[in-house]
Amino acid sequence: APDRDLDGLRVLVTAGGTREPIDSVRYVGNRSSGRMGFALAERAARRGAEVTVLAANVALPRADGVAYRDVETAAELADACAAAFPACDVLLMAAAVADFRPVDPPDGKIKKDADAPDTIRLERTPDILGGLAERRTAAQTVVGFAAEHGDGALAYARGKRERKRLDAIVVNDISRPDIGFDARENEVTVVTAERELALPFAPKEEIADAILDEVVRLRARGGSD
Ligand code: C5P
Repeated sequence: APDRDLDGLRVLVTAGGTREPIDSVRYVGNRSSGRMGFALAERAARRGAEVTVLAANVALPRADGVAYRDVETAAELADACAAAFPACDVLLMAAAVADFRPVDPPDGKIKKDADAPDTIRLERTPDILGGLAERRTAAQTVVGFAAEHGDGALAYARGKRERKRLDAIVVNDISRPDIGFDARENEVTVVTAERELALPFAPKEEIADAILDEVVRLRARGGSD
């Protein structure tokens, strides 16, 4: 990638996976490590961007020159996104946001006595990305991520990109054990209105640079759709 080609660009990255409390000590979580989001942030900063990361439960080293804000739940991530999104040029929504959360988690620890509930009631979390994309300006570039299983992943992602008004969606086939989640490598397809760019198996830093290249291309072309 060219040196400093993102100079002055304000990039907002979400990374990691949200945790939704069951009670004060337990949570419903997911297996996202935050590696892809952190790689995007580090590469964007190295290329001159002004980068903010909203990190959901990420235990990884942090890069100099990147601003990190920690969040835990989907609700906290939604608030942090709402505050930071208006001032960004590019949103890279790499976080694995819980789709469901326990309803009204009690304070304290649920005891394993006779009264202990044997079910946890769940409710949907708000679609953060969908909400932000509705309020986007034409000058903003919005990129979503999709973790899908095998066949149909691409078709599903195409539909999601259009429905959610995203400039691009990065599709990750999670049925492969050697990529995604905690792996250091990834293999993804970047779906835009114009093309589908298959990025072969590579370290997440290389994948990050290629995704950023596509963002640069989209912005040079101007506007969305
Ligand atoms: O619809 P799906 O969850 O597969 O979409 C994935 C994309 O949407 C990711 O970029 C993820 O960060 C985002 N998302 C969100 N809020 C949710 C669920 C997913 O912003 N509640």
